[in-house]
Amino acid sequence: MTSAIDPGLDLFAEIDRLKHQRKAVILAHYYQDPDIQDLADHLGDSLELAKRARDTDAEVILFCGVHFMAETAKIVNPGKTVVIPDLDAGCSLADACPADRLRAWKQSHPDHFVVMYINCSAATKAESDLICTSSNAEKIIRSIPVDRPILFGPDKNLGAFLSKKLGRKMDLWPGTCMVHETFSAKKIAALKARHPGAKFIAHPECEDHVLALADYVGSTSKLLEFVQKDAGTQFIVGTEINILHTMHKAAPHKELIPVPYEDRSAACQGCNACPHMKLNTIEKIYLALRDLKPRIEMDETLRVRALKPLQRMLELS
Ligand code: 13P
Ligand code: SF4
Repeated sequence: MTSAIDPGLDLFAEIDRLKHQRKAVILAHYYQDPDIQDLADHLGDSLELAKRARDTDAEVILFCGVHFMAETAKIVNPGKTVVIPDLDAGCSLADACPADRLRAWKQSHPDHFVVMYINCSAATKAESDLICTSSNAEKIIRSIPVDRPILFGPDKNLGAFLSKKLGRKMDLWPGTCMVHETFSAKKIAALKARHPGAKFIAHPECEDHVLALADYVGSTSKLLEFVQKDAGTQFIVGTEINILHTMHKAAPHKELIPVPYEDRSAACQGCNACPHMKLNTIEKIYLALRDLKPRIEMDETLRVRALKPLQRMLELS
C-alpha cells in the first residue's frame, strides 16, 4: 500500500494541503501514535469524538481510531464522507459480541434492558436499547429504572466495575479489551511499593483485581483531567501507553509511569499498546486523504436502527 507514495514527499505538508483541499476534519483518539495525535484537529475519548463527528461541518471526516469509532461517526453524521486509515483497525471488544449472538442473548432474557458499550459494531448497536461510553456509563445506567433488569456488554470488566459502584446487579457479556486485560496487578503493587508517592490511575476496562489497586478510575479524558488537576506529582497510568504523549504535554511537570503488563503471547512487543490503533500510520492517513478511501459505507436501514440507542445516549450525555 505505502509503495505508491513518492519517497520525496513531505507527508505532513501533504496531509495539511489535502485536508484543506478536501474540506476534511481529522479526529484522533488518545491511543493513536504521538505523530497522529499532533496532526489531529480534534483529539478526544470515544464520546468526545462521537460528538465532534456529529457536529462537524467539514465534508470529510478522517477518523484516526478504530472501526467502531469511524462507524459511529457515519451513524451520527451520514451526509459526510467518513474515511479511516486502515479498515482492519478493529477491537477485541467489538469482535467479542457479534449481533447474532447478542440477539440470541436478548431472546433468552426478554424482559431485560440492553446496554452496550460503544465498542461494538453498528449491527450490535442496532440490537441495543442504549449505548454508553466509559465516560458516561454511570449516568447511563442510573437513567434506567431500578426495577428493570439489565444485560450489559461487551466489556465484562467495565460492567463489573459499574455493578459494584452503583450497587446494581447486571448480566455481563464475557468480552474484554486485549490491552487492558494484560495489566499486571502484581507488578503494579510492586511499582507502588517502589514509588510510595505515586497514584495509580486506571481505565475501567482493567480487570477487577487491577482496579482494586487504583486511586482513581476513569475514562481516557477523565484520567487526563485527573493528572492535570490532582495535587500529586507522580502517576502510574493504567491505560493504553500513547495517552502519555498528551498527558506529558498537558502536565509537563508531572512524572508519568507506564503501567506494567504480563507478556501473555510470544507476539507481544508492548502489551500496553493497542495493536489495532497502531495500524494507522502517517502514510495511510496521507493515502486516505488523497484517495478518500477506505470509506465507511452503511446500509441506511441498519444506520437508522443503530442511531436510535446512540441518540438516546447523546441526549443523556
Ligand atoms: P474511552 O475513549 O471512552 O476512554 O475508551 C477507551 C477505549 O478503549 C477506546 O477504544
Ligand atoms: Fe479495543 Fe482495547 Fe484497542 Fe480500545 S484499546 S480499541 S478497547 S482493543
